[in-house]
Formats: sequence, C-alpha cells, structure tokens
Amino acid sequence: MKPLSTRVRIGIVGSRFQADCIAAAAKAVPEECEVVAVASPNKAHAADFAKRHGIARAYTDYHELLRDPSVEMISIAAPNRLHAQITIDAAKAGKHVVCEKPLCLTLEEADAMIAACAKAGVLLLYGEELFFAPKYVKAKQMADEGAFGRVHLVKQGEKHSGPHSDWFWDVAQSGGGAVMDLGCHGIAFCWWFLGKPKVKSVYAHMATQVHHGRTQGEDEAVTIIEFEGGAIGMVESSWNRPGGMDDCIEVFGDKGQTYADLLMGNALQTYSEVGFGYAVEKAATTKGWTYPVFEEHWNYGFPQEMRHFARCVRGKETPLADGETGRVVQEVIYAAYASAGLGRKVMLPFRPAGIAKPIDLWKSPGDGVR
Ligand SMILES: NC(=O)c1ccc[n+]([C@@H]2O[C@H](COP(=O)([O-])OP(=O)(O)OC[C@H]3O[C@@H](n4cnc5c(N)ncnc54)[C@H](O)[C@@H]3O)[C@@H](O)[C@H]2O)c1
Repeated sequence: MKPLSTRVRIGIVGSRFQADCIAAAAKAVPEECEVVAVASPNKAHAADFAKRHGIARAYTDYHELLRDPSVEMISIAAPNRLHAQITIDAAKAGKHVVCEKPLCLTLEEADAMIAACAKAGVLLLYGEELFFAPKYVKAKQMADEGAFGRVHLVKQGEKHSGPHSDWFWDVAQSGGGAVMDLGCHGIAFCWWFLGKPKVKSVYAHMATQVHHGRTQGEDEAVTIIEFEGGAIGMVESSWNRPGGMDDCIEVFGDKGQTYADLLMGNALQTYSEVGFGYAVEKAATTKGWTYPVFEEHWNYGFPQEMRHFARCVRGKETPLADGETGRVVQEVIYAAYASAGLGRKVMLPFRPAGIAKPIDLWKSPGDGVR
C-alpha cells in the first residue's frame, strides 16, 4: 500500500444514499484515496455515518468541512438544488470537487460552477459512473475497435419504482422528475459512447403516468438525441418500474450490435419462498423470483470512478467526466423539457436565460424560449 500522504483525502457532503456509495467506493481503492470527513445537517446521521465508515470527523455544516485543512477533495452527495452553491464555496476554499449527477439546476449555475473552479485552480469532476461501468466500458471498447461498423443508434434506459427520498419528488429541490434523476445518465452515456459529438437536436415525450399524487414531475420519459454525424441516442427514463433497478443499453451499427443489462444481466437468477436480505436497489421484495446482484458498486463503476478522480487530483490522469460534461448534459435536459412542452424537436445550442429549473420549460414552454 502507498504511504498515507499520497492518498487523496476526501470529505463527503451528505450522509445517506449516495454518500454511502461514495464511502464504499473510496474504501475499495485505498491505494488512491480515503474519506477523512463527512458533513450533513443531521448530527446523529453524520455521526452514525462516520462511525459506520470509520471516518475521523463529522460536521453538521459543510462550511466546517470546507475549513478542514485535511480535506483535499469533496464529494457532493446532497440534493440537486445545493450542488452549485456547495461547489462554488468549495472552490473558494481551494478544494477539488466531485459533483454527483445532475450537475445543478440551471445552465447559469453550470457556468458559475465551472468558472469558480477554473478561477480557484481546482478540478470540477462530474459523477457519471456509467463511463466506468465495466460492462459498458467493454461495449465502448468494441465499438471503438469497429466491431459494430458505423454505430448509428445507442439506447440507454434506467428505470425503477421511484426515488427513496422526498426531495426527489419535489421539483423545487430536484429541478424535475425522471429525466433529471435518471435521464441525465442516459444522455451522458450516449454522448460519451459516440465519442462526445456535438448535439444537433433533442426531441422528448414526458408524462406523469402513475405518481400524480406525489410529484409535479414527469415519471416517464423518452428522449431522442440527434448528434452531429447522424447517430441517434435514445434514452428511456422511468419511475414506474417495480421489481428493482433496471439499467440497460443497446448499440446498433451497420456491422453488428450489442445488448447489455447492467444489473439483472449480472445477477443470480434466484427463487426463494422465504426471502433473504437484499437483492438489488429498489427491489420491494426478495421472495419469489428475484435477481440479486453481487459486487453492485463495482458493476456500476463507482470504485473505478473514484480511483480515476483521485488520480486526476494527483495529475496522473485527465478527467473523463468534468464540469463541461455536466453542462452538455444540462443543455440536453433543458432541450428535452422544452421539447416535451412544445411538442417538437428543439435545436441546439439551446440556452434560454433565466429559467429557475429545467422542468419549467415543460410546464411553461413559452418562457425564455426563442
Ligand atoms: N450517481 C448515481 O447513480 C447517483 C445515485 C443516487 C443519487 N445520486 C445523486 O446524489 C445526490 C444525493 O442523492 P441521495 O440519493 O444521496 O439523496 P439522499 O436523500 O439519500 O441524501 C441526501 C443527503 O444530503 C444531505 N443534505 C441535505 N441538505 C444538506 C446540506 N445543506 N448540507 C449538507 N448535506 C445536506 C441530507 O442530510 C442527506 O444526508 C443527488 O444529487 C442525486 O441525484 C447519484
């Protein structure tokens, strides 16, 4: 193992779902990094999180974590509406930033985050683990080798029964529904898979099919992205699929295709009459037929992502996902909501000013749209 001093020292902001994932991911690559602090407004949660993960310091205010000289890089695992302010404060404190998806709520925030980090000379890294998911990385390697000829269609779908915390359902805090939460993965994935081409246009259909009582947000959406060169990305996002998380891709070219199922495709096909502890994220039951995953974080690519980000901080690797990546995704998200509102394709660049949150472009498509 490397000497402690060379490991990147991480402070996590947030102490629930994604924070757990980040802490576990960091622990899986101890040669590159370690978590030294956590900040979360609930004192008991922060203390419990620190104890569970063996973290030295727990704060209730993230500003205290930013003043902690031992923290070099923060990981933001807090609600979407807080991403921009935390990033800007972290940059001013001289900390590198890993921001979980989606980058923020507005394009103005995205610009401000990128500018603040550039000015402070710190990295702004964007948490898109699908760039590191081994199965998807293999698909991309084959595509880049020419296995499928010219790739003209890439599909990604992420679907589950709906988020675990109330703030996701409150569009003022999340910025939107399934597209903000899940579609951001698929948009980033298609763009990355195809070699980061310019986006030409976006068409989306959105609806609230099931959860009218719980959210103003869309719980079902299809987003079609047209890239320069003619290839198409198709992203399915749903909060209406019971039975556990589903994450799949399909890739089509003139010489072949590949299909990959990240979770069920890497699981044990299991039948149990009595049930057991845990099958997969958001599965309501473990009785009957289920698909328990193993090495869940590794299959998603979280430890690999954390290793990469730590190595970026040490100047050994160049970021594969940064603030610019998050901004590309954010612009497509804007265009998707506007398209769903207008009922037509939206051409990029698309930068309506003064939008408070992306979903407003669906609900009031006239506002700010040329
Ligand atoms: N990459 C992925 O696949 C993935 C998966 C889940 C969540 N996420 C993202 O991670 C972020 C967090 O989501 P989550 O699922 O962990 O939500 P969560 O509700 O489980 O946890 C949110 C945490 O933020 C904390 N928090 C709230 N206000 C805070 C503040 N002012 N300062 C510091 N902490 C504060 C809460 O106390 C809580 O611990 C979201 O942006 C979400 O989109 C990414």
